[in-house]
Amino acid sequence: MDVNLEISSEDFKRNFFGKKPLLMRGACCTEDFSWHDANGIFARRDVMANDFKLSSDGIIPKSRYVESYWDIGELRHRLIRPAVYDALRDGATLIANKIKNEPIVESLARQIGRFTGCQVVSSAYAAFGTRDSFRAHWDTRDVFAFQLIGRKRWIVYEPSLPDPIYTQQSKDYEQIYPCPEKPCMDFVLEAGDLFYLPRGWWHNPLPLGEPTFHVSLGVFPPLAMDYLAWAVGRAPSFAALRKAIPDWEQGQIPIATMARHIADFLCSPENYHQFRDEHRAAMRLDSPLAIDILGDPSGVNMLDEQRVQISSNNLDDLEKNYVIANGTKVKLDGTGLATIRLIAQMPGISVGKLLERLPGIDPLKLRVLVADLCRQDVLEVVE
Ligand SMILES: [Fe+2]
Repeated sequence: MDVNLEISSEDFKRNFFGKKPLLMRGACCTEDFSWHDANGIFARRDVMANDFKLSSDGIIPKSRYVESYWDIGELRHRLIRPAVYDALRDGATLIANKIKNEPIVESLARQIGRFTGCQVVSSAYAAFGTRDSFRAHWDTRDVFAFQLIGRKRWIVYEPSLPDPIYTQQSKDYEQIYPCPEKPCMDFVLEAGDLFYLPRGWWHNPLPLGEPTFHVSLGVFPPLAMDYLAWAVGRAPSFAALRKAIPDWEQGQIPIATMARHIADFLCSPENYHQFRDEHRAAMRLDSPLAIDILGDPSGVNMLDEQRVQISSNNLDDLEKNYVIANGTKVKLDGTGLATIRLIAQMPGISVGKLLERLPGIDPLKLRVLVADLCRQDVLEVVE
């Protein structure tokens, strides 16, 4: 499913990312998305996992809608269909968090991942009643909500605790930082619309008594405190940080020296970029398996019609002649750089088109390079 964002990534990062909400009407075409797809997404989840929930005035205990049974010597779990249907008819919301291996959801996640340069975690929500599933709350991650079926009313309020982190859930903090009385946005998200909401902004998405299905993509940029923790992890290499500080008398000089060292360390762009590279190297994407193409020793070449894309959300490293994807950092020579740049510009480009657009590169060399990068999980074949 192609997402059409009428704002550049740079413009979004400068003016909206982590700063304020953005409503993008008609960002994706949902004509081909149906309840068949939505049912499939829920049906393929592990119903016993904490990521699978039925919510109605709080989370409904699994024992009320999941049964266990013996399947030829194997203990399995399945939804008690009548219980799920009754709960939904009574206004409950069905929720799947941390969705993996779902091509439609993965396609949306990949496009938002590229747009933001961040790791993305996907969730899906279905409801048919009028009841709000969570009442007003804030999330501790920035969220892109794609309305794929039906409509939902969103009431949004400004943050009372800016930039909350995962330990600062609104249910635990709402007494000290209550939701503002006046909403700043109140609108109906229609099928095909996309709504970006930074973490900390209060919101209450309300079903309108009609079928609704939306996919919510949480994005996770590295935080300043992650950078500090990373810097502290490197502390033992600096002598002042190994000093004993048994009392203030003996401690104040080493503490002042340490503070200066940490401040200098954090303010170095080289150190920041090292941190950023390590953060990126820790990211993994759901690259599709292609054992027939990449696992068969007799298949030496990629076919012309085979389409490929880069298996990474961060391509700004190309300026420095390398790419980091699924834990692998690949230094690129002239051929590699020209190839990867073209694939970055045209995700899903076919091998035939690559050969056509790069006439200066020996075709066999180019095919071998693309196949090698696919096998290394730096490129991925597109289905
Ligand atoms: Fe939320």
